[in-house]
Amino acid sequence: MMGRQRACLAEALYTGYGRLREGAVALDAVEAAICLLEASGLFNAGIGARLQLDGSRRMDASLMEGRGLGAGAVAGIKSVRHPISAARLVMERTEHVLLSGPPATRLALHFQLARQASPTPAQRKALQTDIRKIGPQASAAGTLRLFNTLARRRKAGLETVGAVALDRAGTVAAGASTGGVTLMLPGRVGDTPLIGCGCYADDEAGAVSMSGVGEGIIRLAMAKTIVDRMASGATPVAAGRWALGLLGSRIRGQAGALVLAPNGKFAIRHNTPYMIAGYWNGHGEPVVKDKYE
Ligand code: GLY
Repeated sequence: MMGRQRACLAEALYTGYGRLREGAVALDAVEAAICLLEASGLFNAGIGARLQLDGSRRMDASLMEGRGLGAGAVAGIKSVRHPISAARLVMERTEHVLLSGPPATRLALHFQLARQASPTPAQRKALQTDIRKIGPQASAAGTLRLFNTLARRRKAGLETVGAVALDRAGTVAAGASTGGVTLMLPGRVGDTPLIGCGCYADDEAGAVSMSGVGEGIIRLAMAKTIVDRMASGATPVAAGRWALGLLGSRIRGQAGALVLAPNGKFAIRHNTPYMIAGYWNGHGEPVVKDKYE
């Protein structure tokens, strides 16, 4: 799986950077890269999104651009191939920032976003196997106990996808898309659709996209916290390191961050054991690794 994920990330970098080279804005590059990852089925997003305990696939996504601080997000959206494009619809076609649940799905389908196939029998079987591994069958009475067991074991399904980009005009953008965490309770909302938690972008400070366990990321509003640190003069490396240190020491949270400054300096930081991620500035080959120091 790791080899295919690496190849897919390299392709996403080619795609996103290709858009920038054509003169597209940073938000287009972020959306194009994330669409590719959502369509791959290799990550916990789009057609690869994990199923919730009730067997449904509900997804979250958000994006933001740093020039006018435009932002859009969807939470608990179903049946849509590209939740990141639904988030962009919320940003550009409504006066709102975040839509959730069936109305978010209806908006996406109203604008004729591509539909996603239902979970396959193999995906449903994998869900049942996961449930059996950690305890008794999910039931109304057993669901909470099941979820808490899972949370304690930190068997959270990570692999949220995200991207940050800087365009020729000096505008930064960030986005993220996820199926949440493995076996989460139906209705649970993570960091990804929350602006300032899962992503943030401001041309005066930088752009951040987060992955990891949403419950910790939300409590420290990680994306905005890192951007604010850069606004105070910290480099992307220093801002990312500081915020992830805080996350680990204060609440034992686990996360990864893509951090980009408006001058093009960037950092990929994580306090999880691994984080498969890459970068490219158009020269040579994209760099993709699963560990960043
Ligand atoms: N970062 C994804 C989630 O916690 O939902």
